[in-house]
Formats: sequence, structure tokens, C-alpha cells
Amino acid sequence: MLLLIGLLGAPGCLSPEQAPSLGDAYSGGLTTVFYANHLAFSQPAANLSLSEVSDFRVGNSFFERNWVTAPSSTTARDGLGPLFNAVACASCHAKDGRGRPPEGSTDDISAETVGLLFRLSIPGVDEHGGPLPDPRYGGQFKTSSIPGIEPHGKVGVTYETIEGEYGDSERYSLLAPHYRFHELAYGELDSELMVSPRIAPPMIGMGLLEAIDDDAILALADPDDRDGDGVRGRPNWVYDRTRKATVLGRFGWKANQPSVRQQVAGAFLGDIGITSSLFSQQDCAPERLDCLEAPTGGEPEIDDEILAFVVFYAKTLGVPARRDLDDVEVRRGEKLFGTFGCASCHHREFETSTTYPIPALAGQTIRPYTDLLLHDMGPGLADHRPDFLADGQQWRTPPLWGIGLLEAVNGHTRLLHDGRARGIAEAILWHAGEGEASREAFRLASRDERDALLRFLRSL
Ligand code: HEC
Ligand code: HEC
Repeated sequence: MLLLIGLLGAPGCLSPEQAPSLGDAYSGGLTTVFYANHLAFSQPAANLSLSEVSDFRVGNSFFERNWVTAPSSTTARDGLGPLFNAVACASCHAKDGRGRPPEGSTDDISAETVGLLFRLSIPGVDEHGGPLPDPRYGGQFKTSSIPGIEPHGKVGVTYETIEGEYGDSERYSLLAPHYRFHELAYGELDSELMVSPRIAPPMIGMGLLEAIDDDAILALADPDDRDGDGVRGRPNWVYDRTRKATVLGRFGWKANQPSVRQQVAGAFLGDIGITSSLFSQQDCAPERLDCLEAPTGGEPEIDDEILAFVVFYAKTLGVPARRDLDDVEVRRGEKLFGTFGCASCHHREFETSTTYPIPALAGQTIRPYTDLLLHDMGPGLADHRPDFLADGQQWRTPPLWGIGLLEAVNGHTRLLHDGRARGIAEAILWHAGEGEASREAFRLASRDERDALLRFLRSL
């Protein structure tokens, strides 16, 4: 019965004959949804109860809602800003998918981009070991503001082209972004300011990742490279505001958030300027009275009940099923994914905890292709900005489930933390540091093998 709900339904579904037998296709266990079109990331987990689906829909409406300036007649959605990057969650996570970086060089990325933001900090750590915000620009560069308050400024990007060659002398090129901050309203940037560009990642499977036991993740860590394979993997330990304790980080590009709830409340504050019980203070510079005294949409601006709906929504977006499993090339690519060492970081399979509070997500066999650990990816990808225990060269292995549907959902194939890679091959070619051996295995492989690996990844 549960499977039928997943298989039947609206346009865009695969027919039951196309759906492979239960097993490898079910990347999200019984939460898996059989959609391969632009709605593939937007479905409720297939095994939610009817009342859970209705909670999901309420959460969805707040995820898509445009927040407005306070005071407003619609008090349930006022309180935008005073400083912000976007007016809705869905502006950055378009169709529950990924943000889109600028195609080429531009002086104002916000004019043509949604979903690329810049975390800021100065040397040192806060009382919980987290990044220290800039005294004037805070923890994030805000390109928008409500009337009467100046936004931080604008960000421009230029792309430098880096040429390279595969083992068979086929040529490729990569784009390295360089950012420039201008029209600065709050004075020159601190000479020691550290900036981390980050693109909005897809929203699928978050609750499943939260439901993995700490021990299963920590068992994969190898900080001293005892097995000598050049791949380490370190956990990030970050501050949990609810538990008032330091716990394992799993969300964000540096595993800098401990839970979906804190990630979502952090996004409300940092990205939209909406306070909550978790983050009750606006991110205003101490001397900016205009920002501190701006009208609020309530104390806090989003109450715990509505926040809980959005958090439930963020936890229960279904993971799309794999496709083309029986294709010979896909199977060959899957083997190469192991041979090239990709799976030592993009860890294939976990069981979720049987005691996770959302029963539909508990006890599932899932295939996210991540270890949720930090890896040194070399100087080319470095942001040089520590985030709790993550250093300036470390990034969390991103999940690869759904990666083959990015184009169908978001109409682009830009990858990596800042969206610099124009497709899967470029993303692999940027791997260095702990990912170097793997990248070289790919770069030096024959054209047929490279194509097979990419076919496999597009089947995810
Ligand atoms: C301005 C663009 C933007 C907006 C608006 C935004 N996000 Fe995000 N989101 C991001 C970025 C960038 C990241 C990665 C953050 C990091 O690495 O620190 C992210 C990460 C996340 C993650 C974790 C994803 C993962 O793979 O670990 C979740 C969940 C999430 N956002 C939910 C939300 C919700 C809910 C809202 C609305 C309250 C929201 N976001 C609004 C840009 C945005
Ligand atoms: C040492 C660990 C490690 C190994 C080995 C590794 N990766 Fe990655 N991979 C990462 C990390 C970390 C990132 C994120 C880097 C960033 O965003 O700057 C990443 C990013 C990616 C991305 C982009 C994902 C996204 O959401 O933007 C793809 C695709 C990918 N890897 C595929 C592969 C393939 C294929 C291989 C084998 C040839 C491989 N990786 C080997 C750690 C690894």
C-alpha cells in the first residue's frame, strides 16, 4: 500500500513498469518518491500519514511565502529584515532545489542570482567555538534591506578560466570565482575579514540525514589516516542552542549546523531577518541604531508552532528514486565509483535510527552517498574561513542523491559550495587534497570509463 502511494499519482510519475524492483532504486528507503521531472524534489515522503501530509503542506506554504515589512495587516508573515538576502526560503531553494550562481562575470550577483550568500567572520571564536561575526557587517553580507535602512552593499564576481587536460589529452576548462564587495554602506571591510561563499543546497532527505545515529557517522572518521588511504574524514562539533551543548554537526557545507530545526531557524534570521525563540536578536551592528530600532513583526517574529511546521516540511521532503539501474553503462559506472575511491567519502548506505521521532523516517535503509564528515579539499576550493572545527580547506561531503535530476528541477547543473562547477565532471576535476587520488583516477581514465561514471551519477 505504501509503495503504491509512491508509484501512482500526478503527472511526471514513472509508471510501475518503469520502476525497478524494490532495492537499489529506493535511495530514501520507503520515503522514496517516483518523480523525475521539475517536481522531483518537492514531494512529501511517500510513506507519510495523511495528517503528516497535511502538516507538510502547511510547512510548504510558509516555505514559499514572501515575508513583508512590518507592520502589516498580515501579521503572520511580517517582520522581513531590516537586513535580508531574500524574502522567502523558496527564493534560494527554488523548487526545493539548488541556488543558481551567475553565468558569467557581473558587478551585482543579486540582480541575476538567487541562492548564493556570503558568510563573514573575523579571526577568533565566539563563546561556543563558532565563527566571530564582523562588528559592522555581522555574520552574513546582506544585499537587501527594508525602506529607510541601507543594505550592506553589492557583490560582484569575475571568473578566471583554468585550463586542464584529461589523460587522453582531451582538454577541459574550469572556472575559479573571484568576488568583489562594493558600494559598501558600513565602511571599508576589515582587512582580516574572512568570507565564505555558499550556494543553497537541495532540500531532499534532510530528516533522513538527521536520523542517522552519531556512532554510524563517527565510525567512518579517520582523522589520523590510520588506514593510509589518504582520506581522513573528521567530524565537526558545533553548538546546539536547544540542547545547550556541543554536538555533531551535519548540515550546511561545513557541517556547521547540528539539526534541521537550528538550520531552519538560522535561515529565518540570517537570510530573511525573521527572529524566533532560537534566534531572538536581529543580526545588527551594535552602533546601527536604525537597524536595532527598526519595527519588528513580533517578539519573536515567527512563533514556535509555525517554525515547527517549516521544520517538519524541511525534514520530510522525499528523496527521488534512482533511474536506469539496469543500463550496462550505469552499472559499469557504479563499479568505477568504488574503484576510483569516490565511495570512501561519498559513503553509499546508512540505516536510520529506529527511534527517530518521525516514524516514517525511522529504520530506513538510505543511500545518500555522503559520510557527513569534513575533508580537506585542497587550496583551490578553500574559503580560508574556519567554521567551528572545520578549517579553511575543509568541506562536508555533500550527498549525491538526486544529483542527476538537478537540470530537470532547476534548469542548470552548477555544483560545489559556490556553484563554480558547470556539471559533474568539473565538480570532480576540482577535487584535491584528500580527494586528489580520486580525481586523478577519473582524470586519467579512458573516455569510456569517464562517461560511464557520469552516467551512473546521473542515475542518482
Ligand atoms: C539567501 C538564500 C537562502 C535562503 C533565503 C534560505 N536558504 Fe537555506 N540554505 C542556503 C545556503 C547558502 C545554505 C548552506 C548554508 C551553509 O553552508 O552554511 C542553506 C542550507 C539549508 C539547509 C541545510 C541543507 C544541507 O544540505 O545541509 C536547510 C534545511 C535549509 N537551508 C532550509 C532553509 C529554510 C527552511 C529556509 C527559509 C526559512 C531557507 N533555507 C532560506 C541559502 C538560503
Ligand atoms: C576525500 C573525500 C572525497 C572523495 C574521495 C570524493 N569526493 Fe566528491 N566531494 C567531496 C567534498 C568534500 C565535496 C564538496 C566540495 C565543495 O563543495 O567545495 C565534494 C563534491 C562532489 C560533487 C559536487 C556535489 C554538489 O552537491 O555540489 C560531486 C558530483 C562529487 N563530489 C563526486 C565525486 C566523485 C565522482 C568522486 C570520485 C571520482 C568523488 N566525488 C570523490 C568529497 C570527496
